[in-house]
Amino acid sequence: MSNAVSRAVADRLIALDLGTSRVRVWRPRQGVVFDEPSVVAYDLNRGVAFAFGENAQKMTGRTPPGMDTVSPIHAGAVTDFEAARVLARHAMDTARPGRFALRPTVATAVPVESRGIHLKALDQAVLQAGAARTVTVPAPLAAAVGAGVEIDRESGSMVVDLGAGTVDMAVFAFGRIVSATSLGVAGLALDRALAGWARRQHRIDLGPVAAEQLRIAAGHPEAESVEVKGRRTEYGTPVVARFTAAEVHDAVLPVVEAMVQGMGSLLTRCPTELSADITDHGVVLTGGGARDVWLCHQLECRLGLPVRAAENPENCTAQGLGLLATSTRGTAHVEAFSPV
Ligand SMILES: Nc1ncnc2c1ncn2[C@@H]1O[C@H](COP(=O)(O)OP(=O)(O)OP(=O)(O)O)[C@@H](O)[C@H]1O
Ligand SMILES: [Mg+2]
Repeated sequence: MSNAVSRAVADRLIALDLGTSRVRVWRPRQGVVFDEPSVVAYDLNRGVAFAFGENAQKMTGRTPPGMDTVSPIHAGAVTDFEAARVLARHAMDTARPGRFALRPTVATAVPVESRGIHLKALDQAVLQAGAARTVTVPAPLAAAVGAGVEIDRESGSMVVDLGAGTVDMAVFAFGRIVSATSLGVAGLALDRALAGWARRQHRIDLGPVAAEQLRIAAGHPEAESVEVKGRRTEYGTPVVARFTAAEVHDAVLPVVEAMVQGMGSLLTRCPTELSADITDHGVVLTGGGARDVWLCHQLECRLGLPVRAAENPENCTAQGLGLLATSTRGTAHVEAFSPV
């Protein structure tokens, strides 16, 4: 790819991981310097964005008339161009040292199945946010490099990034992607399954934040039961409910099963020798979902493969983006991107 970054501009590099739930920025020699929710708050009357990240997220679900919050990225695709642009600008401005710094080169990650208009929209949002140029890297490649997986060896390795909007996964050998796919069921789908179950079985409405908190709490190994605040479906009155971790896990199991199917189908499409390598080396998990101990255990049992979470799994994509964009090896990796 012609837009790979030379050493001369490495210092001006920003690795920008625009995720469904969080935006992260990695800078050379500094690591992850920005990590906030992918949310923008708008004053609808004046048509201006007035809060970003943590400040905007606090307002989600609580905005009075005339104000609203927007999550402008879903599964690597821009769903609200203007909000994505201002969010990217906020992240880049916060992460860059000094007002007079030259415009940065920005590396971004995209799901492997991202094509055409989606790629262009993301690229344009980042350019109009103030980037001098962009480098686009397949998301699982960035995750693998950020996790420190030895993708250059001849034996196969598999990395699965458990995000909020997508599960991006790939099998690597000889430093290249052999096979890759992106599933649209990830953390948000788990939360929706949980909220649907609470409504059907207990007539309790859970907001997205409550459903996520309940799922995360139930994912801890020592969790037995978890309290959550919701609202009675019939009367709309507030209620504090307590669910066992086992109930929570049963509620999300169909989504976990869909993830397992997706991972299994990727393995099936790989050459047999590579599948055998992965049986030996196991699967490396990245993304915020890799912090869910119960989920990791389920994937391991259901796939029948060793599964381990990367260190600081949520930062792997941003870090890998930065490492790829600042190394000369990055060019070859990005050029070689050809998922089957
Ligand atoms: N401790 C935890 N236990 C379980 N899940 C967690 C934990 N911490 C974060 N998550 C989940 O990880 C997901 C967010 O991960 P991440 O920040 O990697 O996503 P993202 O990059 O914003 O999304 P995507 O890559 O899909 O666009 C959310 O669904 C969140 O609930
Ligand atoms: Mg992500």
